[in-house]
Amino acid sequence: MKIYDSILITGGGGMLGHALADLLVLRGLKPISLNHSQLDIADRSALARAFAEHEPTLILNCAAHTKVDLCEQETEKANAINGTAVGEMAALCRASGAVLVHVSTDFVFDGSSRRPYLPGDPVNPLSAYGRSKWLGEQAIQENSPSRWLIVRTAWVYGRHGANFPRTMVQAARAGKPLTVVSDQIGSPTHTPDLAAAILDLLDTGASGLWHVTNSGQTNWYDLAKATLAEFGVRAEISPISSSEWAQKRPTSAIRPGYSVLDLSALQRQIARPMPPWRQGLADFHEAVQREGF
Ligand SMILES: NC(=O)c1ccc[n+]([C@@H]2O[C@H](COP(=O)([O-])OP(=O)(O)OC[C@H]3O[C@@H](n4cnc5c(N)ncnc54)[C@H](OP(=O)(O)O)[C@@H]3O)[C@@H](O)[C@H]2O)c1
Repeated sequence: MKIYDSILITGGGGMLGHALADLLVLRGLKPISLNHSQLDIADRSALARAFAEHEPTLILNCAAHTKVDLCEQETEKANAINGTAVGEMAALCRASGAVLVHVSTDFVFDGSSRRPYLPGDPVNPLSAYGRSKWLGEQAIQENSPSRWLIVRTAWVYGRHGANFPRTMVQAARAGKPLTVVSDQIGSPTHTPDLAAAILDLLDTGASGLWHVTNSGQTNWYDLAKATLAEFGVRAEISPISSSEWAQKRPTSAIRPGYSVLDLSALQRQIARPMPPWRQGLADFHEAVQREGF
């Protein structure tokens, strides 16, 4: 079976779903991309019907409950979408022989590491979102499709959908003063770079657990400043600590203070370095100038 014969993208309306579909089309392939209203992955029978109808040889699961703060109140829903549904998908892949690519998160870690996280490092999610995504990872391993990839990524943004750089630019353009957390460190990741690395990993025949982000690290405050400079927007912007932010927004989820992911295994496997995050940001700006948000 050739894996690219029938490609099904779930969560196709989201940032990564769009980027993967665009890249596959550029490569001359014809993915079937279903958004949330076309396929609710938490609806077991709808998922089974989608498998029966499209007979996918490759599933790229980009569907997730990604509203991190809301997941604190919607724990069951988060677990159903990010956990149980992923297990169902894995079981369907095991039965059909389809390859499963699932996307997970740096939020499975607690941020206590002082060096970039390796894929095999122990997890300890701090938030309901992180726990639900960890459930999804475990469900794949329990249901063990013949070939699966779990791709953990972080701080994702792209032209389609709500994300941090876009929010910063739009708020600054609206003349709003910005207060941004300065003590959380991670790697901003532009969706086209993430999508390209996922497809490159698939092309190498890889399976298992991978860390994929743009390279380098920063904090949210510096990312906001870099974004505004890149887009040429001026704004009043001040840093705030995570603990001060938590006092202002008591319902927000706890995020890891450090969640840089180690890319060495990935870069060896795909035989190229990941683009630095500043390059991703410049490419994002160019794409927005060309095609709008
Ligand atoms: N965004 C980040 O910073 C980040 C960081 C680390 C990992 N990730 C992971 O990356 C993957 C891709 O996310 P993204 O960044 O592209 O976020 P996104 O833009 O929010 O995309 C997620 C998509 O999933 C859809 N969705 C939600 N519930 C669904 C359901 N029950 N059935 C089908 N679709 C459903 C959403 O549709 P609606 O909006 O219509 O509900 C949305 O279009 C996810 O697995 C996410 O956990 C993201």
